[in-house]
Order: sequence, then structure tokens, then C-alpha cells
Amino acid sequence: MEKLLDLLSNEVGDAFEKAGYGRELGKVAVSNRPDLCEYQCNGSLAGAKLYKKAPLMIANDVAEVLKESKAFEKVEVCPPGFLNLNLDGEYLKDYLNRMATAPKFGLKEPEKKLKVIVDYGGPNVAKPLHVGHLRSAVIGESVKRIVRFMGHEAIGDIHLGDWGLQMGLIIAELKLRKPELPYFDDNFEGDYPEEAPFTISELEEIYPFASKKSKEDTEEGHAFKEEAMNCTFRLQSGVRGYRALWKHILKVSVTDLKRNYDNLNVSFDLWKGESDVHDIIPGMVKYMKDNGYAYLSDGALVVDVKEDTDTKEMPPCMILKSDGASLYNTTDLATIMDRMEKYHPDRMIYLTDKRQSLYFEQVFRCARKTKLVDEDTDLIHIGFGTVNGKDGTAFKTRDGGVQRLEYLIRDINDEMFKKISEGREMSEEEAKNTAKLVSLAAIKYGDLSNQPSKDYIFDIERFSSFEGDTGPYLLYTVVRIKSILKKYAGEVDIAKGLHKSESESEKKLGMQLATFNAMMEGAYEELAPNRICAYMYDLANAFNAFYHETKILSEENEEKKVGYLRLLKLVQEVMECCMDVLGFSAPEKM
Ligand code: ARG
Repeated sequence: MEKLLDLLSNEVGDAFEKAGYGRELGKVAVSNRPDLCEYQCNGSLAGAKLYKKAPLMIANDVAEVLKESKAFEKVEVCPPGFLNLNLDGEYLKDYLNRMATAPKFGLKEPEKKLKVIVDYGGPNVAKPLHVGHLRSAVIGESVKRIVRFMGHEAIGDIHLGDWGLQMGLIIAELKLRKPELPYFDDNFEGDYPEEAPFTISELEEIYPFASKKSKEDTEEGHAFKEEAMNCTFRLQSGVRGYRALWKHILKVSVTDLKRNYDNLNVSFDLWKGESDVHDIIPGMVKYMKDNGYAYLSDGALVVDVKEDTDTKEMPPCMILKSDGASLYNTTDLATIMDRMEKYHPDRMIYLTDKRQSLYFEQVFRCARKTKLVDEDTDLIHIGFGTVNGKDGTAFKTRDGGVQRLEYLIRDINDEMFKKISEGREMSEEEAKNTAKLVSLAAIKYGDLSNQPSKDYIFDIERFSSFEGDTGPYLLYTVVRIKSILKKYAGEVDIAKGLHKSESESEKKLGMQLATFNAMMEGAYEELAPNRICAYMYDLANAFNAFYHETKILSEENEEKKVGYLRLLKLVQEVMECCMDVLGFSAPEKM
């Protein structure tokens, strides 16, 4: 379906043409003076120079033609030559009726269906998720859903950090604690146990303990680090026991990660990790060397990625360290190569903290220069800002530690459960489920309503409020509509048609609904879930304004009442669709 603004521009363009001017002058925009009109067109001002004619005269000519148009109920010329326009109610009604029955509310299918890999989440095995992992998961999930909703194919890949020194650290520490395990016995030839020799809690205790020890500037610290590096090397070179142990670590950790991401309503199509490309690194390195892309610099293998137009420092992209070890870069490049081979995506979108921006620029340039990707493959990094506490510095626990995501969510759930149980008739079970949905919306909307690149303050009191620009307010609006619709005994079938709006607030609500497809296209083009949030907030406000001044269920004229209810249903459906794209949903009651 055409976007409403395009249709209106077309209509006004026709009028310019009929009046003897260029149709491109007919571009219509939402009015920046809503007190005067709903839409405006400033084409006459540009036309004045072209036609050497007073803008007012042009505007008058066009207005004369537009009086016949079915799209506008009011056409006014305002000095020095603005066209002030109000949409015709009948025209709006028809547009909304088409929208209501069209698939995806009239969003156009793409001309070319793209294959897009969204690389997000990016947790590291055996390290618990903390609040820093929230944004990648939440924004990434939404970006994936936006891409999908637009009609493209989206593949979400978690890109686990499962191969680096942290694995060696865990193995080295386990070796000290449980040397009797068969994994450490090089002569062991039997089958290793099915059961992991540790639980997730042990694993989560072992990693920070080992990491801390390896950083100590003592003899013990140095020796331990040495041993951890040795373990990493043995793991990577395929020592059987180490691989078996590593598989246990991976399995225990991934089970726990899945549970955590499930709680966030985040899911991945691929659970690939850095380890998956280990075996293709030598081939990639050889290719880069053979083609003269990579050269040795101070013993390290690098690819220059500087361009003449650079104004900032652009260090070369390191492929191998001087000791031959691969790096974060190396796995990312090999992953790009692997993805091109296996999926041949048109785009890859990465979500990480914006502090990795330079890093991704280097990697993308390197991938392009070395032709790991096709010329028209898009590589995009969405760098997001920091989650801050109320004091404006990175969010921490009360005692200054790193906040575990799981505990943070649990605490918010508990608070919400209390709030929801108070004075509401709900079973404990229902209150629990409702609290989960509401707190998820609070957290996700609190994050997604910000432009990704901006830092934001994680203010759970504000996020959880049922009023204002919050997730719960939006849920509440949907719940309110659901409850009105439930109270009505008859059938509410949108396909039977909305009626022409009768009040200002009803019309405004309709006009806000009608911008859905334009908004969604914009959110996709900019990869900006915050655009969807802003749309929903405006829609909820428009609905609530309408609701407060309209008798709906007590309306005596049955036809009118049903018309209102159909409008409500459309609002509900659009809201729930937006929520789904953002990755949360509304309960039945709250
Ligand atoms: N594991 C990484 C980290 O903790 C994030 C991975 C992001 N994705 C990527 N393809 N590099 O920083």
C-alpha cells in the first residue's frame, strides 16, 4: 500500500500539474503548525523562482484545482504562499479500511528479498550475563524482527565467545582443583563421562577466580597465566581430553544462557561461536598472504586498512600475533568468510558496545579489501551506548559490583509482582505471569525507546511506571482496549469497515494509525527500534485522548458503537504488532 503522505503528495502534484506547474512541487509534509492545519505544502515558494511568479499566485492556482480533490476537506492559502491542508474524513476512512484488511497493515513487500545475518548477544561462555549484555540482546532481537517483518530473511547468530583464553583459564583451574579427572590424563583412552564435572554455579565461580589469579603480579600469578595459555593452546590444537572438557563447559554454559535469553524473549537461529571457524583460519591466512594482502610487521601478520581520505588514526588490522596466535579480529574475519560461503548474506549487522566501532571499521575494511565479501555485501555495525545508573556512571550493584542480568531481572519481576498483586483480583499464578510480561516490557521499552547510540539511565522506577513514556503504559493501553472489547457481547469485525471519524480526537487517532507503514519503513532504513517506540507512544496517547472524551460502550447508536469498537480493535492489532517487533507482549489484564 502507498504511504499516506505519498498519496497526498501525488494528489497535490496532480494539482500543480493541472495548474501548469511542475508536479514535483507538490510534496506534502505533516504540518509544523498543527494549530493551523494537518498537512502543508510549500512547493509554491520553490516554484516562484522557477516560474518568476509570486508564490501566492501559484498557491492560489493550485488551491483552485485542489478544491475538487477528494483527499482534502480544507485547502487554504496562507501568505506568502503556503498551502494549508486538512485531510478529508472519508478519504482517511477509506485509507484505514484498506490498511485494516491488508497484510501487515499495508506495508509493502520488498522488491528484492534480502538475506540478513544479525550478529547479536555475543556472550562469553562461562561468564554470567551482566547488564552490559542487555542492549545487544534487546536491540539485536528487535532489529532481527524488524528485518523479518519487512519481508526479508533474517538469521540471528549469537556468536559465542567460546574459544579464547577464558577457556584455558577454566581448564587450568580445574586441573588444579580436580587433577584426578580423566581429561587430564594423556594416557586415558576410554570414553569420557557424559556428565560434566561441574555445575553452572561452580563454573561461574571458577572463571572470575582464575581470571583474577592470572592477573596477579606474583610468581604464582605468572605461572598460572602461563599454564592457562598452555591449556588454551592444547585445547586449540585438539588434545582429546581438553576438547571433551571444553564441550562440557560449552554445554553447561549454553543451557544456562538459553534459559537467560528465553526470559528476555530473545532467541537465536544459530548458536555458532568463535570456535566454529578455528579450522578455516589457516586457509584464510594463506589466502591473505598469497594474494599480497597481508604482510609481516614486527613479526605480526597485518593488513593495511588505511584510506587516503582518513582523517583519524586507522591502525592496520592484525591477523596473527607475532607468536602466530589468532585474535578477536581473526575469528571475526573467518566468520565473515564462513558466512559468505554457507549463507551468502546480502547484509551482516553487528550489535556491540560502541567502543568497538573502530574495531569493526577495521574488520569491515579488511574484509572488503581482501574480498572476503562481495562488493555489494553490506556490513553494518550498530554501536550502542552504555547503560548507566542514576548517578550517570555505568550501572552497578549497590555494593559497586557488576550487576548480573539474571538478578536484575528477578528483582524487577519481584517488585512488579508486588505492584500487580496489590488490590487486584488475580490468582498468584496469573499475577506472576503478568508481572513477567510487564517487567519485560518495562526493561525492553526503557532500552529500545532510546536511540541505540546514546547512553541511557537505567531507572527502573521510571521504566515501571504505568504512566508516561513507558512500556507498562503501552501495555496498559492495550489491556484497556481488550477489556472494552470483552465487555461487548457482539461481533467486532474490522473487515466490515470503520466509520468516518466524527470528532477531532477520533480523526487524530486515525491519522496516527495511518502513518504505520511509513514509520515501519523508516525504522528499517535507520535500523532504529526507537522509531517504533515513538510511534506507539503517540498512538497510545491519541487513543487515550479519544477514549477519555468518547462514550464507547454506552453509545446508543449501535452502528456508531460498532464503528468505534472496530477502530479500537485496529489500534490493538497495530499496537500488538509493534510490540511483537520490539520483542515483548501485553497480558490480558493488569
Ligand atoms: N564476545 C564479544 C565481547 O564480549 C562480543 C561479540 C560480538 N560479535 C562479534 N562478531 N564480534 O565483546
